Amino acid sequence: MLSEKMQDALNAQMNWEIFSAHIYLSMSSHFSQIGLPGIAQWMNAQYQEEMFHAMKFFAYINEAGGHARLGTIDTPPYEWKTPLAAFEDALAHEQGVTARINELANLAIEEKNHAVGIFLQWFISEQVEEEDTVGGIVGKLKLVGDGGGLFMLDRDLGTRVFTPPVKA
Ligand code: FEO
Repeated sequence: MLSEKMQDALNAQMNWEIFSAHIYLSMSSHFSQIGLPGIAQWMNAQYQEEMFHAMKFFAYINEAGGHARLGTIDTPPYEWKTPLAAFEDALAHEQGVTARINELANLAIEEKNHAVGIFLQWFISEQVEEEDTVGGIVGKLKLVGDGGGLFMLDRDLGTRVFTPPVKA
């Protein structure tokens, strides 16, 4: 059972995850355009992961007796000055997502809705991983600069494939 307030908050997060997906897909297009296909592939995998997050909210809201409602998604940016600038934007975005998930968890505590609290546990752990992964790439980009190391990093990041967890 979801309160109206909780249902609205979960729907807002579902739509925010779709917005996150669009940001990464836009970054994927940008990196294709500037000749870094590996980073484009990494961003495409991240897009799929964000859609997976959105669909977890979608399924949960409906299962919990609510109504998953799709909303307007803002237009994401479409170009970045440097690869580092894009990943710094991604890190800031993920930190924002973490803050939103924490707010949702606070609401679950406030409403004593333990089921929602348990559902959110997965996202709380996931955000630690998301920030760590993106922060790690920011660190590597700072080390390699714009030289040949960037092409090696592009090759490494291009090996990423998104595989949904068997049981999420
Ligand atoms: Fe769905 Fe990257 O947080």
